[in-house]
Amino acid sequence: EYIPLKELFKDHFPIGAAVTPNHMDSRTPHGRTLIEHFNSLVAENVMKPDALQRVKGTYTWTNADRIVQFAKENDMKVRGHTLTWHSQTPDWFFYDENGDLHTPEVAMKQLEEHITTVVSRYKGDVYAWDVVNEAMFDWDPNGQIIYREDSPWYKIMGPAYIDSAFVYARRADPDAKLFYNDYNSIFSWKRNKIYDLVKRLKDNNIPIDGVGLQGHWNVGVSEQDIRTTLDLFRDLGVEIQITELDLSVYLSSDEPGSEVYTDAFNLRQKIAYPMIMKILLDYSDIITGVTFWGIGDDVTWLDRPGRRHFPFLLDEQLKPKPAYLEVQKLI
Ligand code: XIL
Repeated sequence: EYIPLKELFKDHFPIGAAVTPNHMDSRTPHGRTLIEHFNSLVAENVMKPDALQRVKGTYTWTNADRIVQFAKENDMKVRGHTLTWHSQTPDWFFYDENGDLHTPEVAMKQLEEHITTVVSRYKGDVYAWDVVNEAMFDWDPNGQIIYREDSPWYKIMGPAYIDSAFVYARRADPDAKLFYNDYNSIFSWKRNKIYDLVKRLKDNNIPIDGVGLQGHWNVGVSEQDIRTTLDLFRDLGVEIQITELDLSVYLSSDEPGSEVYTDAFNLRQKIAYPMIMKILLDYSDIITGVTFWGIGDDVTWLDRPGRRHFPFLLDEQLKPKPAYLEVQKLI
């Protein structure tokens, strides 16, 4: 017999799931599963800038409010994702009516207005915000390119928007935990850039509490990469959350896709999942949350026709997989 995820990890960290508003109903299988297993939620899409403020000055709260309401009714925490990103952000944040980039002054004011409005609305309800998402350049063997230079935020004002975003968020809710969030963050080329960024922010008294490691990993993820990354950030004195955990069954993008969950996939996850969760338990003094980027294998943003990823501990029927029972043995 299995023990619900949130019970398993209750002495260590909250266990979260990324959700959509239609999940927010205790009469549906997804709603029931959330209540059974999870004590933290994050909106998969509906708190992003294009969802909250598609048109300048006109905010749409309905969907985000539903998630916050469901969380309250069921004693769950809420993470906010995300305030500042190059993606899923309407063009008006960046471009004027002629299609030219805004001046830094205009863009900065709009960023301040957005962050202040959103964070204030959910003050006391959202306990942690991904203030800036994916600002570092992803692949750079020579280590020359630090920031993601194709971000319109960066094109307009360089990295200054990062610092300001944290200041605005802290001002709007001094009690919320503020995170920098990124992917590929356990690989040496990227984690060192993130380290330098966070160190610079802290040295300049910019309010940042933690780093979100997205955790879009696969079954070949390296134990050493994760441990080295956690050691690095422990030394900086920031907390860490795994913010978007999904563990693809493929070892690489070259591996042929499958529509079915094979014995080989099952075996890989039975080894990789407990390996990961054991690390997170070993570092539970700095790990303050673990959030899956979905609920069960029936729905994940990773899936394509002919190539399903089966990335979670719950299967397509939202039932615990063999990997889940292996994880349970850790406790
Ligand atoms: C993804 C959602 O899961 C998709 O539904 C959407 O179409 C695109 O965005 N990194 C992030 C998340 O920070 O916001 C992304 O979510 C996945 C990658």
